[in-house]
Amino acid sequence: MSNSPAFPRSCDILVFGGSGDLALHKLLPALYHLHREQRLPADTRIFALARSTRALDDYLALAERHCRAQVSRDDFTLADWQSFAARIDYLAMDAAQSADFGRLRERLKHSETRVLVHYLATAPNLFTPIAQNLKLAGLAGPEARIVLEKPLGHSLESARAINLAIGQVFDESRVFRIDHYLGKETVQNLMALRFANTLFEPLWRSAYVDHVQISVNETLGVENRGAYYDHAGAMRDMVQNHLLQLLCLVAMEVPVHFDAESVRNEKLKILQALRPIGGQDVQDKTVRGQYSAGHIGGQEVPAYWFEKQVDNDSDTETFVAVRADIDNWRWAGVPFYLRTGKRMAKKCSEIVIQFKPVPHNLIGDGSGPANRLWIRLQPEERISLQLMAKMPGKGMQLEAVELDLNLAQAFSKNKRRWDAYERLLLDVIEGDSTLFMRRDEVEAAWRWVDPILAGWREHYQRPRPYPAGSNGPEQAQSLLELAGREWYS
Ligand code: BG6
Repeated sequence: MSNSPAFPRSCDILVFGGSGDLALHKLLPALYHLHREQRLPADTRIFALARSTRALDDYLALAERHCRAQVSRDDFTLADWQSFAARIDYLAMDAAQSADFGRLRERLKHSETRVLVHYLATAPNLFTPIAQNLKLAGLAGPEARIVLEKPLGHSLESARAINLAIGQVFDESRVFRIDHYLGKETVQNLMALRFANTLFEPLWRSAYVDHVQISVNETLGVENRGAYYDHAGAMRDMVQNHLLQLLCLVAMEVPVHFDAESVRNEKLKILQALRPIGGQDVQDKTVRGQYSAGHIGGQEVPAYWFEKQVDNDSDTETFVAVRADIDNWRWAGVPFYLRTGKRMAKKCSEIVIQFKPVPHNLIGDGSGPANRLWIRLQPEERISLQLMAKMPGKGMQLEAVELDLNLAQAFSKNKRRWDAYERLLLDVIEGDSTLFMRRDEVEAAWRWVDPILAGWREHYQRPRPYPAGSNGPEQAQSLLELAGREWYS
């Protein structure tokens, strides 16, 4: 993995789905930052491709509005925007029509000495036709890379079909399956924490760890993405990718090298060791919920089924909690509790490693909590270690205190923290796939998720309601309480 690369090669970036949410909210602001900080190859060109016919100036006005909203005031200047906008072109085309790719090739006048990045910020059903059309148009040569957004498919079968079709056009080293969580600084820090410190690794196993919690809770609802989300739900949108990737980084063995193949080999082994959840286990080990009306930050918000483009009798889950077990030597008997929900009480993504209590209690009454490591990914990037200390004063009374590291403050000299997409876009241009999901990883994740989805269909129950602004359905609390545990946030 590279740090601050200098690029020898020029680059053309094609964004399919160029007027969609992802392109406007994430990709263009990330590219703007890269441009402003001179981290893009000097003559990089960006082509936004979308169905609507509109003049370039209209597209640029739309893009500028979104960039202004996403980029902090200090970082947005008109001069930078104008020089960035000079790199952008817009082409109206239908990605399913091969004839339109001829027009694209004409417009692009791509030279084979340039890196060509095809970023598919579209629905997965367009991945295969786009790849095939790129091949027909001669835009899939050795210099070309394809970037696929998650979720890749809808099930193992559909993911395999996509992987197969993409593999017929692009060899695996040129396929970049994005999970933007892997691009987050704090997520990469997890690897630094584990593999660059001697302190934790000896304790990182079933002999010392009681259980692990991985939560990604959001206060947002589905915003403008109801049409997509209502067909996906939290299991496909979040658990199949972001949460399982976090689980892999927490649970994997130390890779032989810090390169794409070694890291991904270890993650794959964890996905393969996940105990399948099917039959009765689906009832006992998973909870699916859906938000009803409630309050977020003092504001009333509607129930999920009143969101735009959502079926008014929808039974899509907006919350999932799962107990996952990893059947290998290191983690035997250590549950990993995964939880994600929209419209929750507070936004927070965090990993908690709950250590076991001391084997013999010498001090105190034996009821004090054991050590706990919190790795907070967002909104603040912090790592805290809960230790037991003696309370000041007479006697030996124990209290839990925290060793607290705020990563943003620790690195404040290093200016702005990069957004995940900045990092990942640079890696694509450089051809570094360490932070991207390999084909077998994606398929192994679906292999674990599919039986849960099937179990939900088989023993049908509507998702458990939870009021917006709460901590999810009660059943999610019971999932831990039955084992004498509790969620820590
Ligand atoms: C996306 C999901 O992948 O991640 C969204 O599709 C979710 O539904 C988002 O809101 C969360 O990302 P972040 O970076 O805001 O935690």
